[in-house]
Amino acid sequence: MTKVLGRVAAAVLALGLCAGAALAQPDYPRRPVTLIVPFAAGGPTDVISRIVGEHMSRTLGQQFVIENALGAGGTTASTRAMRAQPDGYTIIMGHMGTHAASVALYPNLAYKPDADFAPIGMVAGTPVLILGKKDFPPRDLNEFATYVKANVDRLNMAHAGVGSVSFTTCLLLNHILNVKPTSIPFNGTGPALTALIAGQVDYMCDQIVNVVQQINAGQIKAYAIGTAARSPALPNVPTSKEAGLPQFEAQAWNALFAPKDTPKPIVDKLSAALDKALDDDNTRQRLLELGSVLPEKPQRGQDALLALVKSEIGRWTPIIRAAGPSN
Ligand code: MLT
Repeated sequence: MTKVLGRVAAAVLALGLCAGAALAQPDYPRRPVTLIVPFAAGGPTDVISRIVGEHMSRTLGQQFVIENALGAGGTTASTRAMRAQPDGYTIIMGHMGTHAASVALYPNLAYKPDADFAPIGMVAGTPVLILGKKDFPPRDLNEFATYVKANVDRLNMAHAGVGSVSFTTCLLLNHILNVKPTSIPFNGTGPALTALIAGQVDYMCDQIVNVVQQINAGQIKAYAIGTAARSPALPNVPTSKEAGLPQFEAQAWNALFAPKDTPKPIVDKLSAALDKALDDDNTRQRLLELGSVLPEKPQRGQDALLALVKSEIGRWTPIIRAAGPSN
């Protein structure tokens, strides 16, 4: 009898705990949410996070606090996010580099992008451009290829660390051209772009969100965009196919992830808030002006993001292996 009563008491306690957890979730969030940005402030991931985070914080009634956590091409921050309490109070803006390319770039990567996170949703596609400093001699992509091949020993290429979009997409570019320039890492393409504008580095590959204004102001040169169609934000920049380098296919993406065991109702709440942000006219306009490509409804959800992560790991792994050692 005592045993039976003990079991009943344990069951009641377990039920109570479950009810407590379920009751706690409708209140979520009760305090600010930390949104980890794995790169420097002012760069593309940071800018997109602040625009979307602002709207999500209005929807959820709590501040989204941006925390720029730097290092190792975004993989340090991603490891931290993976190990954070799975309670919905720490999430990360991952991207094509941190959550796809890094798998092949780091054989001992601490996390599995497609298994160690709860996908919240895709935020934006970000086409990647081939860029040169203002007084870089080549006038078009053909001349760029010839010039870089002839002068590679004295050229510097900027990027945001092994694991970043800028590193991975220029790895593809350099592999196509069969060149290995000196590579100069920064903590994000915010600072890398500053170096390109100052003429301290010769070329880089960067997401459109970081560079529309600087291209239009003539502070840097744009040779091509790595998407099938030109961007409405930069209609004069040819696609890599039009410019003669069709193998340079480079569109990155940004997406929100929570740690793996975050309760489903919380992840659903975050997904719904993101969806609402992506439906908001003002948020859309701000993202579109920067050249982002906004996901349609079917591309937005948790399942669609997981499928994207898997397919992007599948796409980038052989490219990176064919390009050879990263450093
Ligand atoms: C950044 O925000 O600095 C970029 O997303 C870095 C990159 O991946 O190239």
